[in-house]
Amino acid sequence: MISRETIDKVYQTAIIEDVIGDFVQLKRSGNAFKGRSPFSNEKTPSFFVVPAKNIYKDFSSGKGGNVVDFLMQHEKLSYPEAIRWLAAKYNIEIEEDQASAEQLQEKSEREQLSIVTEFANKYFQQQLHESEEGQAIGLSYFTERGFLPETIKTFQLGYCPDKWDSMTKAAIDAGYNPDYLKKTGLTRERENGYYDFFRGRVMFPIHNISGKAIAFGGRTLKAEKDIAKYFNSPESELYIKSNVLYGLHLAKNELVKQDMCYLCEGYTDVIAMHQAGVQNVVSSSGTSLTEGQIRLIKRYTHNITILFDGDSAGIKASFRGIDMILKEGMNVRVLLFPDGDDPDSFSRKHSSSEIQAFITGHSRDFIRFKTELLAQEAGEDPIKRAALIRNIVESIALIPDAITRGVFVQECARLLQMQEQTILTELNKLLLTQAKKSGKDEQPLPQPLLDAPPAEQPLESSLELTTLHQERDFIRLLLTYSGDSVELTFENEDKKKENFSMSAVEFLISSLDMAELQLRTPIYRQILDEFKELVVQERDAVKGFTQHTNPEITSITSDLLTEKDAVSSNWSRHKIYPETEKDKLSYALQTCVYALQLMNIRMIYAEINALNGQAMSDEEADAMLMRKIELDHLKKVITQFTGIVILPGV
Ligand code: CTP
Ligand code: MN
Repeated sequence: MISRETIDKVYQTAIIEDVIGDFVQLKRSGNAFKGRSPFSNEKTPSFFVVPAKNIYKDFSSGKGGNVVDFLMQHEKLSYPEAIRWLAAKYNIEIEEDQASAEQLQEKSEREQLSIVTEFANKYFQQQLHESEEGQAIGLSYFTERGFLPETIKTFQLGYCPDKWDSMTKAAIDAGYNPDYLKKTGLTRERENGYYDFFRGRVMFPIHNISGKAIAFGGRTLKAEKDIAKYFNSPESELYIKSNVLYGLHLAKNELVKQDMCYLCEGYTDVIAMHQAGVQNVVSSSGTSLTEGQIRLIKRYTHNITILFDGDSAGIKASFRGIDMILKEGMNVRVLLFPDGDDPDSFSRKHSSSEIQAFITGHSRDFIRFKTELLAQEAGEDPIKRAALIRNIVESIALIPDAITRGVFVQECARLLQMQEQTILTELNKLLLTQAKKSGKDEQPLPQPLLDAPPAEQPLESSLELTTLHQERDFIRLLLTYSGDSVELTFENEDKKKENFSMSAVEFLISSLDMAELQLRTPIYRQILDEFKELVVQERDAVKGFTQHTNPEITSITSDLLTEKDAVSSNWSRHKIYPETEKDKLSYALQTCVYALQLMNIRMIYAEINALNGQAMSDEEADAMLMRKIELDHLKKVITQFTGIVILPGV
């Protein structure tokens, strides 16, 4: 363990803007630094580093924290890895605490297992390339399968000779302890001695995230039916199956870059896809997907596309596993390969861009896919259709976010040509039973849908009216508090509250920019544009408006400015805002921006829903679904801020 003293020293020495500056181009902005978020693809900078507080805040993803948090989030390091990274950067010597005897024992056990596994890995590769048997049987098999020498090296493929105990013997001769060989499953023992578990098989080493071999899959080359095609290493202290994904160490960077993970079934699929130039691919290696594996992927991307080669029976068997992905709040798509193809065979016939295009073009959203598949099977049979709805609703109910659930309710209603309300009722019944079961009655009841329109008023006009009010409020805050600054609070990764300050004007304008929002009311938009202009010229903006040549603007300005310290109608209505606005300025500003953003989402939703009734192609429907999911993400970012006020009807 790294000593407390070393950790303290690292924190004292590390200069946050210096460290983050290694990854993000930062520009000074007041007493902070500003740059484009390294966590999203934004155009307008909304990433702040505040040296005085030793923190950073990324408004586009909601991430924030100290310098170690940054390395953990951006570089996907563990805590000790992040500390070591900083220590290396600042030439700080790392002192290790005396670990407890137990820790030492456990550590050395794992290390020993790792050492013998590495030995075996080298041995198998050496046999493949250098021994006559390895070349004649193993290497020629891989070559025939179309694996290039480069690929064989990258994946460290090997061969275990078809002799009784050649690997075990070599290991013991080299001084390794047979006890550890046995614990890794590489070596087995009978009365008459040791033997190699994988003898006569081509070897696929399985690596941990840092690329160390921790286990093996061994494929037989014999055709006999009663021999298992693959042998796999048993679990050990070193190899915990449910937390390992084949190929992750090679895929991880690409998962982040592409913001997408392709999940396939086997070793050879991963290898062939890699060779074809598609690198954001991993495999669960024959076992059904575990929660641990899903969380591993989630560290890098929230999007998974599952590549299937089987028939619909096989796919239906994996529905439960896919449900676990939904439960993690991730987006799942599925892809069926055309007749008889799997990722392995398909990628040998196509270029990487063709593969990417095929996957993008033919993958379908999972819930849509499931609905369509089950609907086909149910036909017009009413009993089967009722079961189908329950089945689909069970999947939808797992999705943690209410808005996304709402999107899928709409989508399923469309696909099944049913009333949305029927599905919604079924969903709410299920959610209610679940909430009762888990005994969390303090949890708010799930909000079924974002935008149930008020019955008496047409949706459009009510939205427009609210928008007008909210935009007016935005301008009011801009003018009234142009000389003030706000203290912003957010929770860092350790769930500790952090503060930093920013001018009210900068907060309002950059929040709007980063949400890519524009005011819809022309006169307010004009005021905002001119305001920005005046700020850039470092002129007194408020004076500029009270003395404006346009009488409409001077009148609005003076109206708004006399509302100073008014208690906004929203607060008083909810009896949650007893203090003056200025006392809680950051709260007021944040709420105003949220309100605008949520309003904008509602507007876009209304636009999309208006299209919903119309006939559309599968592609259009899919694109619409994707758009709604994007909106849902935006909403999530908004609600990540602390002290969120949920506005009426949203
Ligand atoms: N698998 C296994 N044990 C088996 C069969 C399969 O562990 N007896 C796992 C392996 O991880 C394998 C994956 O399931 O990679 C997919 O199985 P399959 O498609 O049969 O194997 P491939 O790797 O595609 O092998 P090949 O193409 O060489 O037949
Ligand atoms: Mn195969």
